[in-house]
Amino acid sequence: MRGPRVFSVRFVLHILFLFAVLVIVSGTGWLWYTAPKRQASLAVPHDYRPQAARAHPIDQLMKNADNVSQTWLAKSTNNLPTAAEAYRKRRGRHPPPGFDRWHKFAQDHGALVVEDFFDQIYHDLSPFWGVEAKEIRRHAKHFQHAISVRNGTMTIKTDADRPWMNIWSNMAETMLGWLPDVDIPINVMDESRVIVPWEDIDRYIKAERSLRGLLPPSKVSAQLTGLGELDGDPGEPPQIDWITTTPYWDISRVGCAPNSPSRELPAATDFSGPPPFRAGHPPGSFEGYVQNWTSAKDPCLHPDLRESHGTFVEPVSQSTTRSLIPIFGGSKLPMNNDILIPPAMYWSDDIMYSGGEHHGDEWDKKTVGVIWRGAGTGGRNRENNWTRFHRHRFVSMMNGTAVRLAEGNPEGAGQGANFILQSYKTYHMAATQYTDLGTWLERITDVGLVHLECFPGTGNANCPYTDPFFEVKSNVEMKKQYGFKYLPDIDGNSFSGRYLAFLLSTSLPIKATIYSEWHDSRLIPWLHFVPMDNSFVDVYGILDYFLGTGVGFKVKGGDVVTEGAHDEQAKKIAMAGKEWAERVLRKEDMQIYVMRLLMEFARICDDKRETLGYADDLTAG
Ligand SMILES: *[C@@H]1O[C@H](CO)[C@@H](O)[C@H](O)[C@H]1NC(C)=O
Ligand SMILES: *[C@@H]1O[C@H](CO)[C@@H](O)[C@H](O)[C@H]1NC(C)=O
Ligand SMILES: *[C@@H]1O[C@H](CO)[C@@H](O)[C@H](O)[C@H]1NC(C)=O
Ligand SMILES: *[C@@H]1O[C@H](CO)[C@@H](O)[C@H](O)[C@H]1NC(C)=O
Ligand SMILES: *[C@@H]1O[C@H](CO)[C@@H](O)[C@H](O)[C@H]1NC(C)=O
Repeated sequence: MRGPRVFSVRFVLHILFLFAVLVIVSGTGWLWYTAPKRQASLAVPHDYRPQAARAHPIDQLMKNADNVSQTWLAKSTNNLPTAAEAYRKRRGRHPPPGFDRWHKFAQDHGALVVEDFFDQIYHDLSPFWGVEAKEIRRHAKHFQHAISVRNGTMTIKTDADRPWMNIWSNMAETMLGWLPDVDIPINVMDESRVIVPWEDIDRYIKAERSLRGLLPPSKVSAQLTGLGELDGDPGEPPQIDWITTTPYWDISRVGCAPNSPSRELPAATDFSGPPPFRAGHPPGSFEGYVQNWTSAKDPCLHPDLRESHGTFVEPVSQSTTRSLIPIFGGSKLPMNNDILIPPAMYWSDDIMYSGGEHHGDEWDKKTVGVIWRGAGTGGRNRENNWTRFHRHRFVSMMNGTAVRLAEGNPEGAGQGANFILQSYKTYHMAATQYTDLGTWLERITDVGLVHLECFPGTGNANCPYTDPFFEVKSNVEMKKQYGFKYLPDIDGNSFSGRYLAFLLSTSLPIKATIYSEWHDSRLIPWLHFVPMDNSFVDVYGILDYFLGTGVGFKVKGGDVVTEGAHDEQAKKIAMAGKEWAERVLRKEDMQIYVMRLLMEFARICDDKRETLGYADDLTAG
């Protein structure tokens, strides 16, 4: 009689134990990887259905974005006095000399004038008010590569035939009659050049603030001194110290605020294996998705970028100064103090960057999928650190085979060579109700590297240490890429030069970057494009929201389903981005931006800068 009783207690304990194990294991979300057959039954109650009852976080983010754009439109000005008024209100001083000409140019070219659109100019130039005008002029005059304007004619100084110099000087040439005399020092490298310690910039910005004020119109002069004296006696070229050593992380974090997470964190030294992103939603996200684009892009706030973005693992070249000198270029990091102008690629009509006149077919005729092609740039990838390069990571994470292998990795569920998958519980997805990530990706992505760019090079597109993980794919012309609905845009050695073309296409750009560009203060995430975290952990959630299971997916019983897609929302952002780019990112808008920038720069270079300005609107009549 005792036997069976004992047995049954044991039996019950045994069952309880198994049950507990099951609860723990399924609670971690990893069970899915080892038991793909049971994933559907586990995934449904845990992951998807309860979530469907409430609004998807992306619905909320799109709704918030609509609001921002209405605020902008309400602020637009359509005559000179209101534009000048908006300027004074936002900048705290009189507009620069020439503002009336500038405004006429903007009006003649049908521009939407919203003072906020020029915020980047003030972000870039404000610190220069803390430096003597004479110093700025001298640096501008002597820089190795420069475009100079004197009395409506232009000269170019360069060491060799530089395509970007040619394009930028072509841009300047179109505005010659409108520009003040000015020297424009140009960065001809991919990488940005100036990183001044945060404390110095803080001091300079305080100086700028203390110099703000609205002089009585009678005390304001519109007459720039000009550069005659400097041209007559240029003096010796100023000494500039260039730091060319790496790690670049240690050079750049000096530009971060003292209390920011990256400031005191030294460069990583171990680049083996996938980047150790922490599990769960990216910090600062809204339920996993980017809600503050400025902060999502900022390496000062995302210390893990030191070991997950090629710029910080090992840039191809780097040459940085700690002094605040003027250097104009197409992109920069948030901690850089370069002065932004529209990138040469955006002014050029090179079809490599734009796809020419073709912007894509109607939305409904496009392939329901994701396309990306590019070289494995992003820095100098080597055998012992390639796993930390962002382009390589993105391509692997979009590769169905690589993802399926990671899901079934016996050495660590979800672990690939250069990425670690999140638990399925992190993002609530529709697609994973029916299928594993790998199979789903195979159906919806066409992503690959066209050149592995390894170091040391092999003389061809292949690369011994990355060949097992990547197939060298053939290039796809931009206009063919527009035949797909989704166009991710990923940084290269610096920013990706295709972004404007993607915005102008009829497809949907999905953008991750750490770089800033001239147009940043005129584009709204979730309204004009889809923002993505630099870890790319949100990419599956983003694609799942827009594509759901994808088109024509067959479930076991043979039914064809498309579950969970938000195609209308994707189309809405794609079209809004295109319309907006056609309205505020036209070549005319680039001219208007550069003209304003150079009028401000000419004032900052003038000894009389504190009294120079435009105030005629206040005295007229
Ligand atoms: C837009 O946002 C502002 C500030 O967050 C809020 O006060 C306002 O009610 C919003 N408007 C709409 C239409 O949602
Ligand atoms: C500037 O150009 C105008 C005509 O283009 C000429 O009349 C004037 O003398 C020039 N000024 C200087 C300082 O060279
Ligand atoms: C976004 O983040 C930046 C940088 O942290 C911060 O200054 C800004 O206030 C944030 N914007 C919003 C709307 O929260
Ligand atoms: C990447 O690997 C190479 C080769 O070992 C090394 O020289 C380079 O410094 C690495 N990058 C960093 C930032 O350590
Ligand atoms: C996808 O991953 C597999 C396995 O790592 C690899 O063999 C294949 O070449 C990759 N495909 C592409 C397009 O890179």
